[in-house]
Amino acid sequence: MTIPLTDVTPLLWQVTPNPEPTSVEEREKILTDPGFGEHFTDHMIDICWSAQGGWHRPRVSPYGPIQLEPSAAVLHYAQEVFEGLKAYRHADGSIWTFRPESNGRRMQRSAHRLALPELPVEYFVESLRRLIALDGDWVPSAPETSLYLRPFMFAKEAFLGVRPANKVAFYLIASPAGAYFKGGIAPVSIWLSDQFSRAGVGGTGSAKTGGNYAASLLPQSEAYEHGCAQVLFLDSNEGKYLEELGGMNVVLVYSDGTLVTPASDSILEGVTLDSILQLARDRGHRVEQRPVSLDEWKAGVASGDIVEAFACGTAAVVTPIAQLKGRDFSIGAADAPAGELTMSLRQELTDIQYGRADDKHGWLTRLDS
Ligand SMILES: Cc1ncc(COP(=O)(O)O)c(C=O)c1O
Repeated sequence: MTIPLTDVTPLLWQVTPNPEPTSVEEREKILTDPGFGEHFTDHMIDICWSAQGGWHRPRVSPYGPIQLEPSAAVLHYAQEVFEGLKAYRHADGSIWTFRPESNGRRMQRSAHRLALPELPVEYFVESLRRLIALDGDWVPSAPETSLYLRPFMFAKEAFLGVRPANKVAFYLIASPAGAYFKGGIAPVSIWLSDQFSRAGVGGTGSAKTGGNYAASLLPQSEAYEHGCAQVLFLDSNEGKYLEELGGMNVVLVYSDGTLVTPASDSILEGVTLDSILQLARDRGHRVEQRPVSLDEWKAGVASGDIVEAFACGTAAVVTPIAQLKGRDFSIGAADAPAGELTMSLRQELTDIQYGRADDKHGWLTRLDS
């Protein structure tokens, strides 16, 4: 793939190894039970951007606090985007990531919507390699574990006027992640948010930007209060069509094997969703991306036409949905078992990611060489 590097010259990286890295014993202890997003590796990457100078001064430096002026635009107007992908350790010890160009391109689309500069995809992927070069030992090797990679970009210009910032920073940090489902995959109950929307037509729903997640926190708390793991949002216009969960896309499976997933301009285009749909197509399943109403889900389950439902995203890969709960209805049952197709697609995708199956679509990129 070639990306025009219009405003960049080949960047010279400054590398400052952490003088006090985590001890081997401490790191191994963390890696036995890393949780999610709690521990961070010894280094981070940052690349500056200015309206005058474009992308410059890429650095690898010790992980640590960022200095920002209190007037930094991101703290006031949330001009920010981020990404999430993983590094996987294969059985031979090598370290790989999954479709990083897709995340790099999505970050460009998110940046465009938030009036931020677009980081060339080459730099995005190179930053992953540079971090792994120093922090590769942080990629765990137990089943279903990974190193979660979190690229993000924000407006750092010290200026209170409401306009796109002229100074921006791209960062990459990494955090070891344990198996999402300890002790086996457990189907989840999800809560239908009937009062709150996540995003609206023409808004920022299809961008991976912090504001969308801030908007999902209150409904997410409501989900917890109702004993649900996640919240499902409907379209903000009519409150009729499925959008997505707070951090995952949603898929329904019909009894004839057709997979149906919502098409909407206000949902995030998931890399996991795209991959799962491709694997399903490869097996001969029909795939439909179209508006899907809540009524269709209710009627389909009642008639027996809809036989499985699942959510998908980088963090949990594929999560079977046992039940959808609303204020005055529920679909399915809290103890419903995971769907067969759901589980076999999950297995196929994780087998590719962990190097146990043929990477027939060329989705893997090696990071440690
Ligand atoms: C709102 C939202 N939808 C969908 C997804 C799934 O996207 P992906 O499969 O690229 O992780 C995510 C996770 O990144 C998300 O935050």
